[in-house]
Amino acid sequence: MTILIKNGTVVSPTGRTQADVLVDGEKIVALVTPGDTSLGVDLAATADTVIDAAGKYVIPGGIDCHTHMELPFGGTFASDTFETGTRAAAWGGTTTIIDFAVQVQGARVQDGLAAWHEKARGNCAIDYAFHQIIGGVDDDSLKAMDELVAEGITSFKLFMAYPGVFYSDDGQILKAMQKASDNGAMIMMHAENGIAIDVLVAQALARGETDPVYHGLTRPWETEEEATHRAIMLARLTGAPLYIVHMSAKQAVGTLAAARNEGWNVFGETCPQYLYLSLEENLAAPGFEGAKWVCSTPLRSRAEGHQDELWKYLATNDLSVVSTDHCPFCFKEQKELGVGNFSKIPNGIGSVEHRMDLIYQGVVEGRVSFERWVELCSTTPARMFGLYGRKGVIAPGADADIVIYDPDGHTSIGLEKTHHMNMDHSAWEGYEIDGKVDTVISRGLIVVADDEFRGHAGHGQYIPRGLSQYLI
Ligand code: URP
Ligand code: ZN
Ligand code: ZN
Repeated sequence: MTILIKNGTVVSPTGRTQADVLVDGEKIVALVTPGDTSLGVDLAATADTVIDAAGKYVIPGGIDCHTHMELPFGGTFASDTFETGTRAAAWGGTTTIIDFAVQVQGARVQDGLAAWHEKARGNCAIDYAFHQIIGGVDDDSLKAMDELVAEGITSFKLFMAYPGVFYSDDGQILKAMQKASDNGAMIMMHAENGIAIDVLVAQALARGETDPVYHGLTRPWETEEEATHRAIMLARLTGAPLYIVHMSAKQAVGTLAAARNEGWNVFGETCPQYLYLSLEENLAAPGFEGAKWVCSTPLRSRAEGHQDELWKYLATNDLSVVSTDHCPFCFKEQKELGVGNFSKIPNGIGSVEHRMDLIYQGVVEGRVSFERWVELCSTTPARMFGLYGRKGVIAPGADADIVIYDPDGHTSIGLEKTHHMNMDHSAWEGYEIDGKVDTVISRGLIVVADDEFRGHAGHGQYIPRGLSQYLI
């Protein structure tokens, strides 16, 4: 099966070029300059399928390197399965996810990973890979880190938040970082001072402050900045590469930027919710409505200017990646677990379907370039997490994961509009995008075209990963 994508503008982090893209089977086999006849065949006449991409952008499929399908959290589970979540991702132009397998204290890391393979296998519409959460750093889990790196799980998430659940203390973090510094793995850090936050939460509840907004007010920027600084220093001490996930506070990113300016091997990720949404407009919505936007790190104050600063940090590469931290919960019966006590609201927002559009809107609004859009949403995630070459690039030999994006199209986001995630609400209700995902190809299969899903569960394959290209 061959596909020729004609007349489009191919966008990569290094520029835009007019080229036709030829796909054979699961791979990209050629990029042909229009008018170049040196191949000696009329590709348009011989290809099985010809797609006219005139006036459209042809970009490598999105890579969302931070998702949580079916994550157990707060007595419930994230509401997207691998089937529903990867289908929604495909609708939105994401062709690879990296999800987090979970190890909890006392359990074997290998068993946690096996459980994640079981959930995903045969169910995904697009390709997938795993990071591993280490929820209990001990001798066994440290040994397991070596085993996992050898089998393509090359990044490990640790938590400075959630004491008693996923939390690691500084000694445990130090040991895991020493291991990563030996075996080349990337340490991913949830950087919030969970011990301090738990005290602030208990004090707020004792004062009768139970509404969702207090989730944000009990996780002030200082708790993110302090933990970010501590994580950077421990990484510096051990020589481990460090990637700080879901950054929302401008001060925390400032600390990261200062370390990067020193040449230290540390990276930051943010998510669309921290670029667009805010404590005042969302988390502080009347009644219990704000529960829709409870996530950690929390949405920050617009008055304090975090959102604008984060966009600038994306442009300067102090923030290197935009993922979603997709962790959806329905309002009914899930978010509602926290009525009368904000600390019981499951933490997470669903966005896997909207990331490519939301960051494209940043291009339209002049915050980042076309090239940077591709870099933030596809190429850097591929390079950061050992997928590059196969993913994150339109070049001969790469997987045919391709999105055709229409700058003249329009996307209205909302529950009844573009929404295929397994949620009973949208955190993005009412957002309007001046562009549209037109066609999505996953390893040579057209999975979205003509406003129709044409993929199927089981098409997506597990992709073992190499080491990060950002190791030094
Ligand atoms: O609120 C969030 N971020 N939920 C998912 C778990 C995590 O910490 O990434
Ligand atoms: Zn986290
Ligand atoms: Zn997460």
